[in-house]
Amino acid sequence: MLARETLFFSLLIIFSLGENRISNCRSKDTCDVCIQEPDCVWCVRPRSEIHCIHKSQVEDNLCDKKDIVNPTGQIKILQDKPFSSTENGEAVQIRPQKIKLKLRKGEEYSLQFQYAQAENYPVDLYYIMDLSASMEDHRDKLAKLGDKLARTMMNITNNFRLGFGSFVDKVDLPFVSTVPQKLKTPCKLNKNGKSVICVSPYSFKNHISLTGDYRKFTEQVLQARVSGNLDSPEGGFDALMQAIVCKNSIGWRTQARHLIVFSTDAEFHIAGDGKLAGIVEPNDARCYMENNTYTHDLAFDYPSVSQINHVAKDNNINIVFAIVNKKRVVDVYKKLSESIENSNIGVLDERSENVIKLVLDNYNKIVDSVTISSNSSSDIEVKITSTCSHPKINGCTNIHIGEIVNFTAIIKPLQCTKGSNKHVITVKPEALDESIVIDLEVLCDCDCSSQALDPQKCSNSGALRCGVCDCDPGFFGKTCECNKKTSDSADVSLCKASKNDTRICSGLGFCRCGQCQCYQRSNPDEKIFGKYCDCDNYSCKRVNGRLCSQRGSCECGGICKCQAGWTGDACECPDSDNSCVKPDNNLVCNGHGNCNCGKCECFDEEVRYSGKYCDECPTCEGQRCEELRPCVECQIYKSGVFNEEECQSNCTFFQSEAVDKLENSHDEQVKTCTLVDENDCTFAFQYEYVNEKNLKVTAEKEKICRGPPNILAWILGVIGSVLLAGVILLLTWKVCTTVHDRQEYAKFENERQKMQWHRNDNPLYRQATSTFKNPVYRTYKLSKTRSE
Ligand SMILES: *[C@@H]1O[C@H](CO)[C@@H](O)[C@H](O)[C@H]1NC(C)=O
Ligand SMILES: *[C@@H]1O[C@H](CO)[C@@H](O)[C@H](O)[C@H]1NC(C)=O
Ligand SMILES: *[C@@H]1O[C@H](CO)[C@@H](O)[C@H](O)[C@H]1NC(C)=O
Ligand SMILES: *[C@@H]1O[C@H](CO)[C@@H](O)[C@H](O)[C@H]1NC(C)=O
Ligand SMILES: *[C@@H]1O[C@H](CO)[C@@H](O)[C@H](O)[C@H]1NC(C)=O
Ligand SMILES: *[C@@H]1O[C@H](CO)[C@@H](O)[C@H](O)[C@H]1NC(C)=O
Ligand SMILES: *[C@@H]1O[C@H](CO)[C@@H](O)[C@H](O)[C@H]1NC(C)=O
Repeated sequence: MLARETLFFSLLIIFSLGENRISNCRSKDTCDVCIQEPDCVWCVRPRSEIHCIHKSQVEDNLCDKKDIVNPTGQIKILQDKPFSSTENGEAVQIRPQKIKLKLRKGEEYSLQFQYAQAENYPVDLYYIMDLSASMEDHRDKLAKLGDKLARTMMNITNNFRLGFGSFVDKVDLPFVSTVPQKLKTPCKLNKNGKSVICVSPYSFKNHISLTGDYRKFTEQVLQARVSGNLDSPEGGFDALMQAIVCKNSIGWRTQARHLIVFSTDAEFHIAGDGKLAGIVEPNDARCYMENNTYTHDLAFDYPSVSQINHVAKDNNINIVFAIVNKKRVVDVYKKLSESIENSNIGVLDERSENVIKLVLDNYNKIVDSVTISSNSSSDIEVKITSTCSHPKINGCTNIHIGEIVNFTAIIKPLQCTKGSNKHVITVKPEALDESIVIDLEVLCDCDCSSQALDPQKCSNSGALRCGVCDCDPGFFGKTCECNKKTSDSADVSLCKASKNDTRICSGLGFCRCGQCQCYQRSNPDEKIFGKYCDCDNYSCKRVNGRLCSQRGSCECGGICKCQAGWTGDACECPDSDNSCVKPDNNLVCNGHGNCNCGKCECFDEEVRYSGKYCDECPTCEGQRCEELRPCVECQIYKSGVFNEEECQSNCTFFQSEAVDKLENSHDEQVKTCTLVDENDCTFAFQYEYVNEKNLKVTAEKEKICRGPPNILAWILGVIGSVLLAGVILLLTWKVCTTVHDRQEYAKFENERQKMQWHRNDNPLYRQATSTFKNPVYRTYKLSKTRSE
């Protein structure tokens, strides 16, 4: 077994990639399976044994041209109306509008299409307002500004309609108080202590459907009365859902840009919160309005974020969250806005003065750019590219009215599913009700396989289809000559890949009635197959031990066939540059590198960049810090070049977090910046990419400031230090002399002790007595010593 495998692998290694592809075709034994491989063609009457050949071999005289079955893609444009604006009937902003396409599996087609923004395109703006008591000021302001808002929008399009709705919350505990008295007048005083006229709470009310009569709008806004509720989050999601799905009650026009401005000062209830009031039925995203009021607030739970995202997308609605400036609430809606594709957020100032600017800015943001999306299923891959001057992912920005933007949609069927090879896909600009409808037929079958011919040629046990026998169940063999009983009467040469191959069935199977039956592997995930057992589905490249990175299937010849979105020999690479796009400037690898296999490979330039997005370099260390500086300054210290509004609009790609003290990180990804501001204060922050896109920035809460120098202290200091130096000098001198004296004295004392006389003795005095010495004694002593 081992030897066989080694042989098999060496065989694989000897094959070049091209030969792999060729052998990949060879293993397909019916026409349908053959043409599902992009580069294979079927030969009905081949000159050799092999029917399914690689298209590069067609010239090799393996087959007559007329016998080749090789369906190719076809396109037919069914509708291509020229661009027009609404003045002459329907607006046309995308062309062509309808095409019919036939493609083989794996075959790519590049569909060129164009988008142009029409002039005077109608705009429908529906204003939904939270009318809990705290919002009264904002309502007043909106009423005053209604006219101006309309006039401003009329400047953009002469076809503008405006509507107004409001919401409070579900009318049940714990959302609103159900005490009868409270139900009647839920609030008495507003926050300024003024008494207000307060109406019963309700879930969602449509005060005025979309209309061109702005005076009526203003009137209705003024007439709308505030109400009160108990808990802090409000039932805005119910209102959003109804406003989106109730097309008739709200009056949304099909051909118009749809804008919902959602204005509130509180968080929202989401799916699941309804359980608090015993409402367990999930929201069904349907319209339940009667007499302009939402009637099923107690029957259905709040919708979920993804439901809102979905219905907004399906109904081409853009949502602008106009949130009253409370940091906590704004943060919540920022997060929400990230989860809802066609949405933006703006911050209302204290008295909603900037509501017009906010609507206008967001409107411009919406119309300035276009994102193309398609609803293709995972069986069909659709990639959108553009050659416009400001491309973004799947779209373009900075486009102006009348500009024609060229797009390409690369369409590629990935799968053949039995019985459902016709697809309708739409490619459309998001939030617009126009699209290209593509009728796509995936060519998965050969025409000839529907004709069953010559049963005699197939031993009357099958039929000839596209030149090969399609045997009845229980029969097999080239001409269906085998069945289970005869299966051992073998012609072994049929089981060899070529005449001089010594091995039967590539050594990986046995021969039954001229057909290879491949060995089964002990691992059920591994399979040997192919006419000569020359294929398997386990010897493809692996990454971290995972076959084809587990993102594709392993095909004959060791080729990974990757799922949509992945590429590379082992499907290890994403096939888009999205993960290399630096989030704050939308440039691939910051313009200093190439995206390779989903990772940035930075150019070898004069200044060498590195880092996840090629945005770090030794000499520009400070540069990235400087880039982040204004946002960190305004977010944390409310200082720097950005004022609060600019901070909101320019610093969207990260939110700095304040900490007491930065951690000493040894992680290479964490970069620390220490900067000095105009007041000579130092502040430090760290940044790091936490996942694909998100920058995490932490900054020290407090700047460290040195005060101005204190002159008096300085002078005193100088005097002090001069004095100190003097004292030290004196002390040193004193110590030196003392030590010297001590030494001298000690010397003197020493010498004195060496003297033999007593202090009281006179050195000149001699004693009058003389000592007598006995010479004998001495001799004796000497002799004694000698004798010893
Ligand atoms: C309409 O546009 C003109 C010029 O573009 C401008 O002067 C005028 O102020 C605008 N009107 C409103 C109401 O914004
Ligand atoms: C709707 O209004 C009409 C007339 O104003 C009234 O008869 C009807 O009962 C109302 N329906 C509901 C559900 O409130
Ligand atoms: C867009 O494509 C059309 C033809 O399809 C071409 O004539 C035109 O020059 C292109 N425009 C740009 C900006 O590439
Ligand atoms: C895409 O949208 C069109 C039109 O809405 C629809 O007919 C088609 O079934 C959709 N295709 C898929 C794959 O959902
Ligand atoms: C088979 O042998 C012939 C000559 O004996 C040689 O030309 C041919 O290349 C061989 N084929 C293979 C696949 O080894
Ligand atoms: C190999 O083929 C077998 C049988 O079709 C299948 O069960 C198995 O999942 C395949 N393995 C891989 C890695 O595709
Ligand atoms: C900040 O954003 C405003 C518009 O919102 C823009 O005019 C300004 O140039 C931006 N400032 C910087 C430094 O990017």
